[in-house]
Formats: sequence, C-alpha cells, structure tokens
Amino acid sequence: MCGIVGYIGNRNSQNILLEGLKKLEYRGYDSAGVAIHTEAGLELRKTKGRISELETRLEAQPLTGFAGIGHTRWATHGKPSDANSHPHTDNDMKISVVHNGIIENHLQLKEELEQLGYRFLSETDTEVISHLIAHHYEGDLTEAVRKAVSQVRGAYAIAVLSEHEPDKLVAVRWASPLIIGVGQGENFIGSDIPAILEYTRDVYILNDGEMAVLTRDGVELMTLEGNFIAKQLFHIDWDLMMAEKNGFDTFMLKEIHDQPRAYQDTMRGRINEGKEIVLPGMTLSAEQIRGLKQIHMVACGTAYHAALVGKTVIERLTRIPVEVDLASEYRYRMPVIRENTLVIAVSQSGETADTLAAMREARQCGARVMAITNVIGSSVAREADDVLFTLAGPEIAVASTKAYSSQLIAFYLLGLFMAQSMETLDQASLIELIAMLERLPSQVEEMLEGLEPVRQIAEQISNQNHLFFIGRGLDYSLAMEASLKLKEISYIHSEAYAAGELKHGSLALIEEGTPVIALATQELLLEKTASNIKEVKARGAYVIALALEGQTELEKTADQVIYVPRTYSLLAPALAVVPLQLLAYYTASIRGNDVDKPRNLAKSVTVE
Ligand code: G6P
Repeated sequence: MCGIVGYIGNRNSQNILLEGLKKLEYRGYDSAGVAIHTEAGLELRKTKGRISELETRLEAQPLTGFAGIGHTRWATHGKPSDANSHPHTDNDMKISVVHNGIIENHLQLKEELEQLGYRFLSETDTEVISHLIAHHYEGDLTEAVRKAVSQVRGAYAIAVLSEHEPDKLVAVRWASPLIIGVGQGENFIGSDIPAILEYTRDVYILNDGEMAVLTRDGVELMTLEGNFIAKQLFHIDWDLMMAEKNGFDTFMLKEIHDQPRAYQDTMRGRINEGKEIVLPGMTLSAEQIRGLKQIHMVACGTAYHAALVGKTVIERLTRIPVEVDLASEYRYRMPVIRENTLVIAVSQSGETADTLAAMREARQCGARVMAITNVIGSSVAREADDVLFTLAGPEIAVASTKAYSSQLIAFYLLGLFMAQSMETLDQASLIELIAMLERLPSQVEEMLEGLEPVRQIAEQISNQNHLFFIGRGLDYSLAMEASLKLKEISYIHSEAYAAGELKHGSLALIEEGTPVIALATQELLLEKTASNIKEVKARGAYVIALALEGQTELEKTADQVIYVPRTYSLLAPALAVVPLQLLAYYTASIRGNDVDKPRNLAKSVTVE
C-alpha cells in the first residue's frame, strides 16, 4: 500500500528521501510527497501522480535540510489529489506526519478537533494525527505523539517531523509495518526494507505498540507507555529484488501470504463493537435496500468468479435474486433492467474496459450502480453511485490472489449489511456469522503454515496435460477460480465442473490416472459430492479432495484429502481458496514458468 521513508543525519535529505520513495514504487501508489526541515522551517512538496512529478517539483524548488520524511500514498480515504497527499501538517505548519494504515475513528476525532478550532485541509484520515499532536504539544514531541496515538483506533505506521524539535524524528507502529535503519551518524525510517537498503543493512523491526525516537546519533526505542526497550539489530542479507518481495521468491507468493492482512484491512472499521456491519460512505439507504427487486453483477476474469460467490452470499442472506454476467457479454446482451435493480461491478483495477462498458450500459438503462474495487480514484470507482473498496493493497502478480479473496470479504460484508437492513437474518445468527468472519484472517495465517502437502500434490500433477476441478454450490464457484489460476500460470489445461454435471458428458474424458480435484467444503452437499467422487474413481481418476477439518469420511473415497479449518459453509471459499492458489503456484514453479508474468496475459485489460 502506502510507503514511508524518513531520514535524519548529516547529508541533505531530499535525494535520500526521493531514492527511498523510488524503491517503494513497486508497491503501487498514486501520489507522493516529502517534508524537510530547512533553514526557513518546515517545508513540504507533494503532488498527485508519479514520483517523477515530485522530482520535477523539487528540481524547480529544491529543499535543503538534514531531517525529512517522505511518503507514497495509495489512496484509502479521499481521492488521489495534491491536498490528500502526505505529509499532512497541523494548522501552524509546525508538525508534519506521514501515515500508513487506517484510522478507524477519524470521523469522530475530526469532529472533536473541529470543535476545538482545528481546520482540515484534506479528506484523509491521517490529518487528524497532525492536529492531535499539535493539540497535545507542550514542549515534548515524543510525549505529544504518544498522547495523540493513544486516542486513535485502527492501524498505523507513523513518522513525525516537527519544527519544534527538528533534531529528531518520531516513529510509531501499530498493525502496519515499520522499520528503523541504523547508520553511522545518520538513521532512517522505512515502511519496507527496500526504502533504506541502499544506506544500511542494520535495522530494528518495530512491533505493535512500539515507538522510536531518532536523532542523527542514535535511536531510542520504547513502548507506547513510555518504557524504554532494548532490541536486537537485524542484519539484512537480502538483495533489493528479494526485499521488494518481502523475502518471497515471487510477488504471487508474497501476495498469497498478504491475505490475512488484506482480510483484516478490508474488514477494519466496517464491523463495530456491537457486531454490526457499518459501511461508511454507503449512500444506499435501508429503505432502498428493502426495495431492491434484483441485483446484476458484472465482472471479468477472476473478479467474475468472486461475483459468482457473491451471488450465493447475497441470495442466501437476503433472498434478493442475483444474476452474474461476464461484462463482455452483458454489454451486448440488452439486459432486462427493471425498476429497483442494483448493478454491482466487480473489478480489482477498476479500469477493465468491458466492466466499465457494462456498468455504463446498466446506468443508461436506469440502474443504480455499485462498485467493488481495489483502487480508489479508478474509473469504476468514480463512475459508480456507491463504492465498496477492498483494501488488499496493490496486487502486482498478474494472477490475482489477494484481490479475489478480498472481494469475497467485501461480499460477506455487503451481504450482512443488506441482511441487517432487511432483517432477513435473526440477530443471533448475524452476530455468529460476523464473529466467524472475523476469525478468517487468523485461520488463513494458520493454514499458510501447514501446506506442505499441497507442494507434494503439485509435484504429482505438474506433468499432467489436463485435469478437472469439481464441486457443488460455492465449491463449484471456487472450482472455476481454482481452474483459472492453474491454467493462467502452469499452462496445464483444466476444467471446472459442477460435480453433478460431469456425468452428462465430460465423464468420457476421465481415464486411468486423470487427476480430479474435488472441492467438498459445503456440508449440506457433502454426501452428493462424495457420490460424484465415487463416479470418477470408478473410471480410474486420481482424486484429491479438499474438505473442512473433521470431514474425515472423505478419506474413504478420495485418494488424498487436504483440510482447511472449520468455518460456516458460506465462508468456506475464503479459506479453501488458499491451498488452491498454492497448488497453481507450486505447479507453475515446478514447471519452470514465470509465475508473476504468465505468457499472453496482462494485469489490467483496458481495451475491449
Ligand atoms: C485481466 C487479469 C485478471 C483479472 C481480469 C479482470 O484479465 O489478468 O487477473 O481478473 O483482468 O481485472 P479487474 O481489474 O477488472 O478485476
């Protein structure tokens, strides 16, 4: 997502900050900025757009100073614009702040600060932090930062530079990564290792609730309660490419491992303490939701598969009929859009040409349009009446992983939000479902630690020419995504089949040893799927089943069973997708393919 860099030392900070920001470009961003303490005081340069635009601005009006902070922003609150770019300052321009993460209670804090006379110049959640620090400043910057962050809820990595105490930088971490680089007569802050790797390989890795005060000669580490702590320096022996991938071999593998955080970020601030779904900024009223006659969903590729899961989720939770269309079909099929139709466009990038066109077509026919997208300021986001953002962070690998699974989380949130408004679910069931939803990030984390068997299965299938994925209900929707993932990066032909449909034709293709991956996470359909497994086994298939923990009866029919943690059937795709992504990943790696850049494919398809 966003990137942070900070410098204090005996060199001019401008170029060090710029170089650091450039090293974070791979993460994706839409604006950039720096604050430097110069002879004239605290000075800022920031701009929407590329770092090269910031560089041009700094060439025209250079800044000279030995302490500074910089930021690349990937919009989460407020569109990409000069005003929303970081750093943000207090009204007296004495305190500057860069921030990664999300401040959940920013609206309430903003209101309180406005009542105290503070003026807000941006739409960001970050700006509350600079005003809060100013509000608490009484001659001790560290103390003021500590008091400020004690009032905020959410996730943050923050770096602060103030004209009051220009010989120090203060950094704080809570649920958003931050490291401190230690040099000779100079010290650094970075949200990621690449930002500072050119200057030092010795870093402190801050944990949640820890802060650091940097001067040019030293670094003090302490807890948010003000207790000093000692930490071991961590020496980095990775090269830059590895550091960008956070130590993983590829972006795809990194992004698969990003999923617990992506889930958390997508849920953050959207489930309140009373276990209700709140979707700030959603203009669709409860009355309008109750009046909906039908929902159409349009999307392409992986996003289409997420929409298929979304259909089941919304229909089950609300009983509103949902149709899902490939955007390239919808735009030309003259869809029947009656009164009170909601059209939901799903798109990671928010720029896919067919999805945009389908959405415009729906609009023209009088539908209200909602977007589920990962990119603030994207065309889909700008043109929709309402947007539900996934907060998966930039996805770099062409094959989508964390964007897909975060779209599932968005659908759970939306479905539950609608069910709340329509009262289609009793209170106890709602609360239970939300509690299980909140468990998903830790369950994914747990799963990621124990998936060695998936690698072994990948070894077995890597020399096959074709295979099948089968499943019923949500397992069938997930099978489509699993099959696409495998095709995209391993180049092995595969097909996803509704388990009950195979015998109506494609069963003819099953022969001795044909691998069949049977998804069987839907408890009510378990027996039916087990019969379908028997059908293919009887024709010689080698069956690998995917089931929820405890469904051991499948071991009697399948050749191998991979288990995912127990959850409600409705939520199962958000867990079961992980081993399937890894299966595609390992198979492609074993075959020696370029996993991040598969042949013939592009990340964002902006032409028809
Ligand atoms: C391309 C990508 C796919 C993606 C599809 C839709 O084909 O390679 O991974 O699913 O576009 O992209 P969107 O950004 O609209 O989700």
